[in-house]
Amino acid sequence: MGLSSSLLSLKLPFIRLLLLLLIATIRGVAGGCYTSIYSFGDSYVDSGNMQYLDADVFGCYVPPFGESYFHLPTGRCSNGRLIVDLTAELFGLPLPQPYLKTWNESVVNVQEGINFAVSGATVLDASFFEDIGSVVLTNVTLRYQLNWFKDFLVSLCNKSSECNKIIGSSIFLVGEMGGDDYNYMLFSGISLEDMPAYVALVVKAMATAINELIDLGAVNLLVPGILPIGCTPSYLTKYETEDTEEYDPETGCLIKYNKLAEYHNEQLQKELHSIQALNPQTNIVYADYYNASMGFFRSPAQYGFTREGTLKSCCGGGGPYNYNASLGCGQPSTILCDDPSQYVSWDGVHLTEAAYAWITVGLLQGPYTTPRLSTLCISENATKIQMTTHVNKSFSEH
Ligand SMILES: *[C@@H]1O[C@H](CO)[C@@H](O)[C@H](O)[C@H]1NC(C)=O
Ligand SMILES: *[C@@H]1O[C@H](CO)[C@@H](O)[C@H](O)[C@H]1NC(C)=O
Ligand SMILES: *[C@@H]1O[C@H](CO)[C@@H](O)[C@H](O)[C@H]1NC(C)=O
Ligand SMILES: *[C@@H]1O[C@H](CO)[C@@H](O)[C@H](O)[C@H]1NC(C)=O
Ligand SMILES: *[C@@H]1O[C@H](CO)[C@@H](O)[C@H](O)[C@H]1NC(C)=O
Ligand SMILES: *[C@@H]1O[C@H](CO)[C@@H](O)[C@H](O)[C@H]1NC(C)=O
Ligand SMILES: *[C@@H]1O[C@H](CO)[C@@H](O)[C@H](O)[C@H]1NC(C)=O
Repeated sequence: MGLSSSLLSLKLPFIRLLLLLLIATIRGVAGGCYTSIYSFGDSYVDSGNMQYLDADVFGCYVPPFGESYFHLPTGRCSNGRLIVDLTAELFGLPLPQPYLKTWNESVVNVQEGINFAVSGATVLDASFFEDIGSVVLTNVTLRYQLNWFKDFLVSLCNKSSECNKIIGSSIFLVGEMGGDDYNYMLFSGISLEDMPAYVALVVKAMATAINELIDLGAVNLLVPGILPIGCTPSYLTKYETEDTEEYDPETGCLIKYNKLAEYHNEQLQKELHSIQALNPQTNIVYADYYNASMGFFRSPAQYGFTREGTLKSCCGGGGPYNYNASLGCGQPSTILCDDPSQYVSWDGVHLTEAAYAWITVGLLQGPYTTPRLSTLCISENATKIQMTTHVNKSFSEH
């Protein structure tokens, strides 16, 4: 806060802040335990696949997306790195490349990780959403992403012993996913009361995908739950109400939408327990994104967020939550905050790099994985996440 305001008073055209999140120093551990990360998911995970599909309909390819870290839009829906990127860094691995990039360019390090996630992707098949009259952003569902992975395997290994070795030493990040399924369902008019039946479908489909990965030889699986959607500027705007009872007095979040996230997460964990019990050779770890981020809303200062920065997005089309569905971040006249590291939400839907970094730290060092992830797997060189958060003020003057 002090640093930021003193920089502001210098009237710099942009602000550059360096934020270090310290991870406990791990002594005597050389390198990570995993050889690669393969990830699946939606816009919380996509690091550029959508660019090769239908970027025109999708907003994360314009400045100021990517501005704080990559200094250009990469297709990541944030100002910087995502949880998948930060996790890779902490395990001492390169950032997993978007799968579709490997089609167009020869990419080094394919053995060290590939990201199959696509923004807007659902767990349930596209036909489900057609049936409920919902228009989806992409039909590259979880099942489809898994098929990409199988195609990709052929280029990686031929002999089953060789494949088992590569797959067995990799970490599979399966999600976050499901959030888009619920967005499409709710926005097309399915009521909250009817959601449990749909949650069951989503969780079953996730279980099917996880079982398939295990059949292919996956041993280490990290499966995130969904985030507290009732705290996002998009939900707070869409479902804004005069009824104060609908809001959690401590956080200002919409209670019933958070309950939906909690319900999904409970059901998912039950399913993961059964899969684990049937597959003792695997390590299935639940990543509790929900609880890892609830602290942001309960005690923002502890994470360097301002109170305003918890429910208002950093980049958006104005209004009480700086969010307007028809005036997304990056369009002319977008309102941009000075310091994204003081905000949880980047664009009203997705989080800032700062929030993703805190979640990653909470997972890898803190209590938010079940069972706990071994810190032994964190690379000796990755003892800290370095974050440069800068905002180019000339952007918002356009
Ligand atoms: C750690 O950093 C040192 C020096 O930069 C480098 O030589 C070494 O290869 C790195 N180790 C790993 C596991 O990345
Ligand atoms: C990928 O390659 C195809 C065919 O060569 C090309 O049409 C397309 O523009 C490329 N996509 C990107 C994002 O570079
Ligand atoms: C997904 O959509 C594209 C474009 O509309 C279409 O070409 C493709 O066949 C679809 N794939 C599936 C699996 O539905
Ligand atoms: C597997 O076999 C195919 C076809 O023979 C070959 O093109 C490919 O390069 C091989 N992959 C590996 C990883 O050796
Ligand atoms: C996570 O949140 C849920 C729902 O609020 C709660 O029941 C659970 O105890 C929390 N778990 C942890 C580890 O904080
Ligand atoms: C949202 O943006 C649209 C398009 O610029 C504008 O017409 C509308 O008034 C805005 N809505 C609110 C609530 O500000
Ligand atoms: C800020 O953005 C403007 C317009 O997009 C660009 O011309 C300028 O180079 C950027 N400056 C910095 C320091 O990134």
